[in-house]
Amino acid sequence: MLVCTHFNESSVVVENDGRIVGLVSGYRDPQNPGTLFVWQVAVDASMRGGGVASRMLKALLGRESLRDIRYVETTISPSNRASQNLFRHLARELRAGITDRPCFGRELFGGEAHEDEQLYRVGPFDLTDNA
Ligand SMILES: CC(C)(COP(=O)(O)OP(=O)(O)OC[C@H]1O[C@@H](n2cnc3c(N)ncnc32)[C@H](O)[C@@H]1OP(=O)(O)O)[C@@H](O)C(=O)NCCC(=O)NCCS
Repeated sequence: MLVCTHFNESSVVVENDGRIVGLVSGYRDPQNPGTLFVWQVAVDASMRGGGVASRMLKALLGRESLRDIRYVETTISPSNRASQNLFRHLARELRAGITDRPCFGRELFGGEAHEDEQLYRVGPFDLTDNA
């Protein structure tokens, strides 16, 4: 509910037949307002691989209120190939670079149950190009 209210400008859902089948929750990094941090991306299992997540990111970055965004960041675990490919796809679409570096080590999550989280950064890009 807080995502829907405080972060609605930087979040999006997809509905199919009245059911939510996709979500991107995100926010502007308070220290770097030109960076959109993607908090969570999820697509219903029945609809994965069909471009839903890519279209949600594109829809967000198409919003007038986010025109000044120059970077997109997110954290992804090493085994999550789908998410890594999603952000590589985004970088290609934006004709921008993509880098990754260590961010949160697994010890911060309280044990072996969680993988490390790498910080992925797409950009810089200029959404006012071809506006
Ligand atoms: C990650 C996730 C959101 C991707 O959604 P999606 O709608 O299937 O993604 P898209 O169809 O837009 O695909 C984007 C790219 O990822 C690739 N991709 C999608 N699923 C993949 C998979 N399982 N393995 C490898 N690559 C995959 C696509 O081929 C595409 O790359 P391409 O342009 O090079 O072909 C979805 O798999 C998901 O909900 N996973 C579970 C939740 C999760 O892990 N979220 C991230 C952490 S919060």
